[in-house]
Amino acid sequence: MKISAKTKFCIVVGDPIDHSLSPAIHNAAYKSLGIDDQFVYLGTNVKVENIEAVVKAMRNMKNFCGLACTMPHKIEVIKHLDEIDEIAKKIGAVNTVVNNNGVLKGYNTDWLGIVTPLEQIIKLKNKKVAVLGAGGAARAVVYGMILKGAKPTIFNRTVEKAQELGKEFACNGVGLDDVEGIKDFDIIINSTAVGMHPLENKTPIPTRFINESQVVFDIVYIPYETKLLREAKKKGAKTIHGIEMLLYQGTAQFELFTNHKAPVKVMRKILNKNFKL
Ligand code: ATR
Repeated sequence: MKISAKTKFCIVVGDPIDHSLSPAIHNAAYKSLGIDDQFVYLGTNVKVENIEAVVKAMRNMKNFCGLACTMPHKIEVIKHLDEIDEIAKKIGAVNTVVNNNGVLKGYNTDWLGIVTPLEQIIKLKNKKVAVLGAGGAARAVVYGMILKGAKPTIFNRTVEKAQELGKEFACNGVGLDDVEGIKDFDIIINSTAVGMHPLENKTPIPTRFINESQVVFDIVYIPYETKLLREAKKKGAKTIHGIEMLLYQGTAQFELFTNHKAPVKVMRKILNKNFKL
């Protein structure tokens, strides 16, 4: 690796950030393509009130080619950018910022992290999809489902939020108490934090409504296998782990940052190693 004054850098910012696997995944990918003298990927903690300063600095640093935003920056960063991609605008969140000679454009690759692994095992067109949650992550899920011709229904603890999001995307939004109907859905996607520490012993819905004809996708990736996925597997449902989302939002981001095709296998290997798979 020969870092020089010509080396471009990408930075992932968040609060917290220490757990982020993005630097490991992207740097391994640069190395495998022999472009680790051209790109390096770092991470740093940034408080939400300081994201504007980071964006300003990026605009003035030619080699600062990519900014990845994770919690809590995905919405806040938008108002400081020069251009927003149409998809990111619809989702209302940006996780990827590309520096094009001082012009900063925001993208969202999270929806690809949902759609790509699903399409590897099921055709989405006309499928009934239960989206659990109505927060930032759920917005990317609902967007992806509608784009692919699926029929999402939003189930959320706070019913008003489900209804609001439903109105925005022209689909149904209901409360989590209406969950019995879930047995008739083809796909269930958990986009709430339920299942993640400290809620690792909980499932977002009672698993008695899950059956073997369904696909269950949990975007939570710590722990690797959530209680929801464990129980869905027992019922014979097909399951997709949260690291798939992590992988495919990352490969899409890699391509935006470098203009190189992402080496998916290399990136997956790093994730597998990290989760001891
Ligand atoms: P993110 O950007 O990760 O989606 P968010 O915007 O804070 O985070 O949204 C979190 C989602 O998880 C919300 O849909 C939230 O439900 P409420 O709208 O009712 O708050 C859901 N959520 C969080 N904790 C939950 C819990 N214990 N049970 C059910 N839903 C929960």
